[in-house]
Amino acid sequence: MRTVMVTGGCGFIGSNFIHYLLKNCDVKVVNFDALTYAGNLENLRDVEQDKRYAFIKGDIADAAQVSGALERFEVDSIVNFAAETHVDRSILTPDAFMSANVMGTQRLLECARVYWSLAPGDKNCRDYRPGVRYIQVSTDEVYGSLGMEGKFCEDSPIAPNSPYAASKAGGDLFVRAYCETFGLPAVVTRCSNNFGPYQFPEKLIPLIIYNALHHREIPVYGDGRQVRNWLYVEDHCSALCRVMREGTIGEVYNIGGDTEESNLNVVRTVLRMLDRPESLIRFVADRPGHDRRYAMDYTKLRGHTGWSPLYSFEKGLERTVQWYLANERWLETAADQEFQTYCKMMYT
Ligand code: NAD
Ligand code: TYD
Repeated sequence: MRTVMVTGGCGFIGSNFIHYLLKNCDVKVVNFDALTYAGNLENLRDVEQDKRYAFIKGDIADAAQVSGALERFEVDSIVNFAAETHVDRSILTPDAFMSANVMGTQRLLECARVYWSLAPGDKNCRDYRPGVRYIQVSTDEVYGSLGMEGKFCEDSPIAPNSPYAASKAGGDLFVRAYCETFGLPAVVTRCSNNFGPYQFPEKLIPLIIYNALHHREIPVYGDGRQVRNWLYVEDHCSALCRVMREGTIGEVYNIGGDTEESNLNVVRTVLRMLDRPESLIRFVADRPGHDRRYAMDYTKLRGHTGWSPLYSFEKGLERTVQWYLANERWLETAADQEFQTYCKMMYT
């Protein structure tokens, strides 16, 4: 049985991906996560006893910890979700994003190269253990911002605008360099905005739900007409599985949803689903460097693997809202003291 190391597996997408893997694939899973403010062991409580699952607390920027885990569990594949992920926090503390997303990714790549190489001491060796794979979970934000027309393709210029996007672009390009220079069998995916269960409440959709449930105002940046290409998280997980199995080494694959929605429409729709008034909407100062529109062309992935999303935006949003309503305790625990302090600083 193959062993997949999921880094950042206690976060939003990583924990959904682990659930997806254990349910749909015959693999062992090692969850390697530093447990930052965004990492939550509760997300995986239900699989803790599964014999195919193990958790290791560790930092991808710590080579000894990473190498130890690769050796101990005889890892065949790495799917790297571990990152600092919130654009607004990247404006407050860009250095944390540089450390985790650029340096962390490079260390993880180097550990993978050394562990999988048939001659680790020889930098010219391009031979690796059979079947090993490194998947880098990157983002549409590396492409920067679009106008009203067009979509990002895999060969669109890399033009990040936020410290978060720049740090993800740095990690993403390091993967390319390890492929080209050392022949590391790696693939990069770039996905649009995800939503679904277990998303930390700093992000737009769970923030709307949390604030609406507490009768708090919903902060909408600028005119609220920025557009995001939303994808239900389970669809991202199924796409990643396809890429793990069928993706071509050295390639980049865009992953995206079919729905483009303005932030204001998203806020209004969630408020309607929760039966809360639009008077909760509060327009606030815009985010500096705020990208206007993202849209992904995922023709390459569809052509190569046959993947396309199963969930419409409405169906995914309905499931998401129902999940948060059924898991209010999870939400209250995630929205801890650190989160309240962050919100006070961000929004007042
Ligand atoms: P998240 O913030 O919910 O979770 C990140 C996880 O990584 C947390 O569990 C955290 O503890 C862990 N982590 C952070 N730094 C670490 C380190 N140095 N070592 C080990 N673990 C560390 O993030 P998410 O929304 O689940 O995003 C996961 C990945 O997907 C990220 O790489 C992100 O850039 C990418 N992505 C996210 C979206 C989205 O809409 N959320 C879209 C496209 C791509
Ligand atoms: P977010 O969930 O932070 O994802 P990203 O910045 O990676 O796209 O934000 C989604 C959109 O919602 C983005 O255009 C910023 C906007 N937004 C608000 O208007 N108010 C908020 O309080 C937050 C967190 C986001």
